[in-house]
Amino acid sequence: MLRLFVARRLAVDPAAFVHPDAAPPIEIIQWNDERPIPRDELLRRVAPADGIVATLSDRIDPELLAIAPRLRVVANHAVGYDNVEIAACTARRVQVCNTPDVLTDATADLTFALILAVARRLHEAERIVREGRWHYWAPTMLLGLELRGALLGIVGYGRIGKAVAARARGFGMEVVWCGGHASGAIPLDDLLSRADVVSIHCPLTPETRHLIGAAQLTRMKRSAILVNTARGPIIDEVALVAALEAGTIAGAGLDVFEDEPRVHPGLVGRDDVVLVPHIGSATSVTRARMAELALTDAARVLRGERPRNPVNEVLP
Ligand code: GLV
Repeated sequence: MLRLFVARRLAVDPAAFVHPDAAPPIEIIQWNDERPIPRDELLRRVAPADGIVATLSDRIDPELLAIAPRLRVVANHAVGYDNVEIAACTARRVQVCNTPDVLTDATADLTFALILAVARRLHEAERIVREGRWHYWAPTMLLGLELRGALLGIVGYGRIGKAVAARARGFGMEVVWCGGHASGAIPLDDLLSRADVVSIHCPLTPETRHLIGAAQLTRMKRSAILVNTARGPIIDEVALVAALEAGTIAGAGLDVFEDEPRVHPGLVGRDDVVLVPHIGSATSVTRARMAELALTDAARVLRGERPRNPVNEVLP
């Protein structure tokens, strides 16, 4: 009997996409909880499994691979796969899959929500109303950044970066980008010194870890906003807090953090930042599609078919 371990409660019933009774049958074992599975429990449950549907909180590393000798597929319920050691999986002939495309629009929407929220000081404005501190209307109250005519710099011009660019053009923004394979990219340093809004959309790799540190923040305009819906460690969070404190940049919108779910205490009390808990892809439709892709690919690999979204090439 093939066994698929599903490491979290998902937005769909796994059986609807794995079809456990189809040939060959696949037994589904699920950690059916909102909270991440503790590491020791993950290792115990994955040990006899042929496949795992993992989330971004589950580290798939040599320790786990060594404990699960039957493992043939890691279907990651995310487009990013920095939680998975790809080379170690490939060496063990473990197929890794991810969930691209289906979350592009939801993530681009959330990016724009953060851009608008920081540009128009929504957090600060909301608090004034809720705390009973709004006493009169004033022409000079809570002035923010006008998006029409402003320059958006996109770091990582892939699927999500391009979807954010399309939204920005609808708001009358100019757009420049760096990274990705698209033509027309400009150097990161130029982008940082020119952009009114800088938005991060590259994957987390050894090369992009702390891509935005103290030196890069210093290049940005004092009026600029930094937004991150990619991965927390791409920005040096300590340097970001220092830059906000010093007024080196004007504000930040963050969906991701260096050490989730921990948030740097220097961010929490600030009015010039908007902080949300890694909800880029969190719409009902998108989370159902992500679950469906991960489950379907896991079942395909276990049944000897090619997955739809392979991350690595595994020799048969
Ligand atoms: C979420 O962060 C993802 O990579 O899908």
